[in-house]
Amino acid sequence: MTTPEGQGAPLLELRNVTKQFGGGYFSNRGPTVALDNVSFSIPEDQPSITAIAGESGSGKTTLARMLLGIAFPTAGNVLYRGKDLRKVKGSERREFRREVQPIFQDPFESYNPFYKIDHVLTTPARNFKVGSGKADIKRKVSEALETVGLQPSETLGRYPHQLSGGQRQRVMVARALLLKPKIILADEPVSMVDASLRATILDSIRTLNRDLGISVIYITHDLTTAYQISDNIIVLYRGSVVEAGSVENVIKNPRHPYTQLLVQSIPQPDPKKRWGELPIQGDADHAAAGPGCKFADRCPHVMEICNQQAPPLYETEPNRVVNCFLYKAAPVAVSNNVAGIFVAPTTESKRSLAPPASSSMAR
Ligand SMILES: Nc1ncnc2c1ncn2[C@@H]1O[C@H](COP(=O)(O)OP(=O)(O)O)[C@@H](O)[C@H]1O
Ligand SMILES: [Mg+2]
Repeated sequence: MTTPEGQGAPLLELRNVTKQFGGGYFSNRGPTVALDNVSFSIPEDQPSITAIAGESGSGKTTLARMLLGIAFPTAGNVLYRGKDLRKVKGSERREFRREVQPIFQDPFESYNPFYKIDHVLTTPARNFKVGSGKADIKRKVSEALETVGLQPSETLGRYPHQLSGGQRQRVMVARALLLKPKIILADEPVSMVDASLRATILDSIRTLNRDLGISVIYITHDLTTAYQISDNIIVLYRGSVVEAGSVENVIKNPRHPYTQLLVQSIPQPDPKKRWGELPIQGDADHAAAGPGCKFADRCPHVMEICNQQAPPLYETEPNRVVNCFLYKAAPVAVSNNVAGIFVAPTTESKRSLAPPASSSMAR
């Protein structure tokens, strides 16, 4: 770190981040609150794998886009080494773009079909000055491919369509790795590949963490793979953190009624019935959220208070927060206290962002 202001700061941090879409003056419906007062941080010194899990529409990709600095919060801050990403410019921005590498859901979209695979690897290698000279870059590209279990001779010189989906995705992991990032942000990296390849790709992501000390943010709608590779998990429901902690504790002993429902539904005899398709009772529309807990309409334990106000995050035990009044005997979580990665929201109202009718807060 070069600037004193960032010293000791987490590598990446979300501080009370809310993201709204729509709901402006000309809109005939309320805003969609895609993310609602979400806070957590990824430290530099303990490389970990953090899963962000949630159903389709829970705000995962919105979160990823903000962590990558390609979208900005409506309220709250995304900080890179302690500095608001909006203010990260020039050489610092370049360093950010090297240190935080994305891997997206559909690798095919990341490729230009007219260029050989080599292009997607050598271009960033040159841009970020990964090697000195052509031969050095070629060597480093080959090493990166080998790290993710690909044979350079069978991969380089080919076109994207000549590789399998799993190979294409592994090239993307190799690409991320080539730049020696601090964090890899993988948004549903295995949801488009078939089951047999899933394990291999997850393995290579795990290797990056264990052997190379890269932190991983693993975004998924699938609790099973989250459990397989992660250290910590943050469960999202309609844009809010409902529960977070070590993956072992959260999955083996879920506390939030929503997490409990998810965990119960894991061993699905019907393979077509996936997690993202839980029967949604009530209105899944984010805009319809009232003042209470967003899960109240589906919750088997619903109490009167749940419809009146939104619960804070309670710290039920060390390294665990749960967003549910069932745990109101526990202290309200206040600061960096879950597995070193979580910063609990402040107690400011979760609904403080209901927009004035005359202004659009959408970006
Ligand atoms: N650019 C956008 N404009 C309007 N609404 C959006 C936009 N991006 C996402 N949303 C809405 O925000 C919510 C969260 O979406 P998203 O982050 O893509 O969820 P996930 O990745 O978990 O499926 C959804 O209701 C989605 O329709
Ligand atoms: Mg998504």
